[in-house]
Amino acid sequence: MTEHAAGATRDRSKRLDPADFIKANLRLSPVPSLPEIGLYSAHPGSGLRRLLEPDDGTDDEATEPQPPYWAYAWAGGAVLARYVLDKPLTVAGRRVLDLGAGSGLVGIAAAKAGASEVIAAEIDRNGIVALALNAAANGVAITAIGDDITGGPPPAVDLVLAGDVFYGQAVAQRVIPFLDRCLGAGIEVLVGDPGRAWLPRPRLRLRGEYQVPDVGGNGGGEPKPSAVFAFVREKAG
Ligand SMILES: C[S@@+](CC[C@H](N)C(=O)[O-])C[C@H]1O[C@@H](n2cnc3c(N)ncnc32)[C@H](O)[C@@H]1O
Repeated sequence: MTEHAAGATRDRSKRLDPADFIKANLRLSPVPSLPEIGLYSAHPGSGLRRLLEPDDGTDDEATEPQPPYWAYAWAGGAVLARYVLDKPLTVAGRRVLDLGAGSGLVGIAAAKAGASEVIAAEIDRNGIVALALNAAANGVAITAIGDDITGGPPPAVDLVLAGDVFYGQAVAQRVIPFLDRCLGAGIEVLVGDPGRAWLPRPRLRLRGEYQVPDVGGNGGGEPKPSAVFAFVREKAG
């Protein structure tokens, strides 16, 4: 991006209110494979680039904007949400963390399935706004955390749901030690994933499989096999 273009993007993002932008430019529509849940989703006319900002929140023009992951339902989140809605005892009466919440899809499913409390952790500030709008649109309460909690201790929850968080090496390298600390604190961890490159396969035990659409094309790709796994402790030795 040229200096001029970067400055123009930054100036526009200063003017735009993310909640107003999302309500005006994204469509509140049912999620394919999850008709129980509606999300504000991007479409070809959304013009999402107008809302992008540097991913560390600084004015550093060298920083690439964080892609708007929150504007789509990812296969890993969709499969986890489907699993939770089909097996509500997984979450019923339990305190749940939706890690890497994006749109909030997984946390919304957990709340609808009877979780006693849902916390959603998402580092993208626009994502925090989107997931709050999505929670309200689905009539559920979710507490959003915009800080990166993966460097700290586990929160007070019974279950972590991690939907599609193994898409990049750097993210996986932060998430795996955090999930290990969660296991160490007695917290159950479930992962939803369509087989991304950084999925820690030796640490996973299959719980369920579904065909769900992944992000692609106009925000709704072809169904692909995706799975829910229990994340387990590393074998000693
Ligand atoms: C591929 S998206 C999946 C979103 C959602 N779970 C779903 O399946 O639709 C991954 C999300 O994880 C978020 N993320 C990455 N690192 C994170 C971290 N350390 N803490 C919280 N969220 C993080 C990204 O901003 C992004 O929204």
